[in-house]
Amino acid sequence: MPACDHTPRPYVGPPKAEVLAMRREFTNPAIFTLYREPLMIVEGHMQYLFDETGRRYLDLFAGIVTVSVGHCHPRVTRAMQEQLATLTHTTTIYLHPNFPKFAERLASKLPPGLDVTYFTNSGSEANDLAIMMARAFTGNQDVVAVRNSYHGGSPASMALTSHHTWKYPQQINTGIHHAMCPDPYRSPFSGTPEAVASQSAEDIRQVIRYSTPGRIAAFIAEPIQGVGGATSGAPNYLREAYEIARAHGGLCIADEVQTGFGRTGNHFWGFQHSGVVPDIVTMAKGIGNGAPLAAVTTRREIAEVLTQRIHFNTFGGNPVSMAAGLAVLDVIQQDGIQQNAAAMGARFRAGLEELERRHRLVGNVRGRGLMIGLELVRDRGTKEPAKEETLAVMEHAREMGVLLGKGGLDGNTLRIKPPMCLTAGDVDFALEVLDHALTRVERGA
Ligand SMILES: Cc1ncc(COP(=O)(O)O)c(C=O)c1O
Repeated sequence: MPACDHTPRPYVGPPKAEVLAMRREFTNPAIFTLYREPLMIVEGHMQYLFDETGRRYLDLFAGIVTVSVGHCHPRVTRAMQEQLATLTHTTTIYLHPNFPKFAERLASKLPPGLDVTYFTNSGSEANDLAIMMARAFTGNQDVVAVRNSYHGGSPASMALTSHHTWKYPQQINTGIHHAMCPDPYRSPFSGTPEAVASQSAEDIRQVIRYSTPGRIAAFIAEPIQGVGGATSGAPNYLREAYEIARAHGGLCIADEVQTGFGRTGNHFWGFQHSGVVPDIVTMAKGIGNGAPLAAVTTRREIAEVLTQRIHFNTFGGNPVSMAAGLAVLDVIQQDGIQQNAAAMGARFRAGLEELERRHRLVGNVRGRGLMIGLELVRDRGTKEPAKEETLAVMEHAREMGVLLGKGGLDGNTLRIKPPMCLTAGDVDFALEVLDHALTRVERGA
């Protein structure tokens, strides 16, 4: 593990067994812990996490792709602390500079015209709001989303989500349809990635023709599916999909909850890799580096559709969250975070492709920047998902000090989406650990 000069504070809280028992007795029984022996994390410093014994781990999952610039990044922490000590909350019924200031800064990062922002607390709420706006603006009800997507757990966003594992059997949001996922690895379409993308985009037209009145409110997609396992179409997918959606009256919504804020490396936003301009952009997670903050940015005429009633969100625009968001944007620029995501992402990809050549378990390496997926299969021909093996690789990596994420419909894709302050030393260490872990699992150890 690369050296780190941060010394964690001695942990003085309740022991792990007690925390686990309390959690089991008093909290949400539908949540899960990642490892066989649950891990307790009590401190974070940039790309590292510390357990209650002071053991350090390299974090490759970033609080589920949320810690963008580093755990407890000192400049983000300071900005939040200063605001917290000055004014924590009033709501938007009074003026406060942070609220419009952060909205203005977001507009400066987006293509011209996308310059009016609503703030919410979570990505689910942001997607709910985006869908509500699209329906109100177009007068249409139907929405096309993409198979294998994840857009949240609230009623409307759960309907957009396309994984049975995250969907409760309740008919609470109708008019949502799913078109084929454009990622070539498991697509029923064949040909080059571009051909698969075109056929997948064409499927949107068929969904609209067969399942809707022929007019839609919106098409929503993650430029790279996060929970789905870093799956995406070739860049022509969004171009063609947006054209088809717009030809049927729909607005195009880019869910940048995971792909935004430089994570994909060469661009600040995921949609930029396709050369498209969405009508609505939803953001969360990395926007606040861990602060509960999310946003919906759109054009003025679309945003104004909600003036027919009062739209209010108690914590939307909260001065502490706004301070966090402003500081994150500063740090992304000052610390060269996006450039680092591009460079470290390329280093990681190259190393993983080398592992793919040597390890039969690795079926597919994909992603951009520091949004990477490593899909494990039992057989490269049948692509049978290597579910247990994926868990075993994660357990071995944890033993060696590296925390990975997992995703995909079958949970057989390792997700590598670390805080974007990752160094070359961290990447090389992680690759070595993955090499050992894959070897052990392949040998049945
Ligand atoms: C792409 C995407 N959209 C939306 C959401 C929902 O965000 P939240 O959990 O903040 O509601 C997530 C969460 O994982 C996500 O990955």
